[in-house]
Amino acid sequence: PVRPVMAADIRARKGGAPLVCLTAYTTPMARLVDQHCDITLVGDSLGMVVHGLPSTLGVTLEMMILHGQAVARGTSRAMLVIDMPFGSYEESPAQAFANARRLMAETGCAAVKLEGGRHMAETIRFLVDRGIPVMAHVGLTPQAVNALGGYKVQGRGADADRVMADAQAVEAAGAFSVVLEKVPDGLSRRITSALEIPTIGIGASAGCDGQVLVLDDMLGLFTDFRPKFVKRYAELGHAADEAIAAYAAEVRARRFPGPEHVFPDELKGEKP
Ligand code: KIV
Ligand code: NA
Repeated sequence: PVRPVMAADIRARKGGAPLVCLTAYTTPMARLVDQHCDITLVGDSLGMVVHGLPSTLGVTLEMMILHGQAVARGTSRAMLVIDMPFGSYEESPAQAFANARRLMAETGCAAVKLEGGRHMAETIRFLVDRGIPVMAHVGLTPQAVNALGGYKVQGRGADADRVMADAQAVEAAGAFSVVLEKVPDGLSRRITSALEIPTIGIGASAGCDGQVLVLDDMLGLFTDFRPKFVKRYAELGHAADEAIAAYAAEVRARRFPGPEHVFPDELKGEKP
């Protein structure tokens, strides 16, 4: 049996072969991700990606648990990490612990991820000291979109010190890795050099210790969402559109179902 990847394994990969991470929200996609990735992340991006919400702010703990359970059923080797949604951890370390405990107990995930730098350090320390591995997330933190004024690059110019200080604070608090989102290339490399824990970049740098993308984005399941940092490895949205159009046309022309898809009234040596 294959031993699942644990927080200590990820931590030990600092400076080694790049860590490969993708999001997943369903069992079949989790099975595919599990074949190729070190970390499967149930991101709160699921609010936008699979539920059509305008941001991640409306995502609930119950949604994360439900998708976390589905992804867990398709995960055997990769490390399963689940995002703590907006409002489930910011009030106090005790609130964060209670909700992280539910995520772990009800999904079997190996770690949680939460957004925030210096101001979340006390909470990260509280969870880590009580047995909950924490992946941190600094730079662009989408749950703070209203405070940040949009999904902008973080840490340009004089703002670089703030992002560096956030990354150093989550490391000091005991996080086993940190996501850098929309942080410029050079700053991402400086943070990666300054930290002893792996940095996992999204819209960051090839110099990070690992990379993460939203699965549906890199598969091209959307047709109209094309941020600069997403490389499309497939155009599944177009493929699905063509398939659905072909189905609709064949139904309207009575070409589907064909003779091979229907059940004869009398069996002539075929299986029932
Ligand atoms: O919610 C998410 O998918 C994420 C990753 C993109 C890092 O937080
Ligand atoms: Na997220």
